[in-house]
Amino acid sequence: MEFPPDLIVFLRKVERVSALTGAGVSQESGLRTFRDTQSGLWAQYRPEDLATPDAFARDPKLVWDWYAFRREAVKAVRPNLGHYSLTEMEKKFPEFTLITQNVDGLHQLAGTKNVLELHGNILRVRCAVCGRFTETWGSDLDSVPRCDECDGLLRPDVVWFGETLPRLELESAVTASRRAQVFFSIGTSGVVHPAAALALAARENGSVVIEINAEPTPLTPKADFVFHGKSGEILPALVKAVFDISIQV
Ligand code: APR
Repeated sequence: MEFPPDLIVFLRKVERVSALTGAGVSQESGLRTFRDTQSGLWAQYRPEDLATPDAFARDPKLVWDWYAFRREAVKAVRPNLGHYSLTEMEKKFPEFTLITQNVDGLHQLAGTKNVLELHGNILRVRCAVCGRFTETWGSDLDSVPRCDECDGLLRPDVVWFGETLPRLELESAVTASRRAQVFFSIGTSGVVHPAAALALAARENGSVVIEINAEPTPLTPKADFVFHGKSGEILPALVKAVFDISIQV
């Protein structure tokens, strides 16, 4: 894969880099993206219809089971070359901030140290009432597990549509985006706010915006560089071109 020589020279000099990732980065690990049609028994549902407080209030078992299904899917997959490439970037760029919309924990599994999880993490479970986190819960398949402390229903520690994002993570993401000399938008359709606004915040503050995505998005016309294709192929090629490092799994 070829990159514009001026971009490679520029990337070798910059210090402050931020990267926003979405479900596309985990697609080559075998996880479905949100705009992919769902598989099997979940094909009849849209994430927008399950990942909401109303859906959980209406049918907690259906929502709990969907997340249990996705949790098992996440546990069964491994990071791909795209995740490992971002870990290498964190080592090489003096000030690198990884901001993710993904809840699969694959960036951390690939060794990235500082990950801002804007939408939470599916592997964490907390009480919907008192907020207490728990690592273990009942395995009764007929009901949603309940909190040992207050008997409230347990739920995944993810941000549902209509819920507010974790304040500290969002503030840190906005600050890093505004400070960035380069902002990567990788594997995201760029349609869900406030994450989708980070690239424009970066651009307004003079960042060079680079989009790496399988298909065009609303950001594409506003990006300085656009590479359409698989992040698991483009990112390792970029790390090789900039740092002469070959990413191995
Ligand atoms: N490499 C690069 N891009 C890819 C790949 C790949 N291998 N596979 C898919 N893509 C692209 C798709 O073309 C799409 O534009 O990744 C993007 C994934 O977009 P979405 O499925 O919308 O996922 P995402 O942008 O992360 O969704 C944002 O929406 O549903 C909510 O909270 C959920 O965090 C999620 C948010």
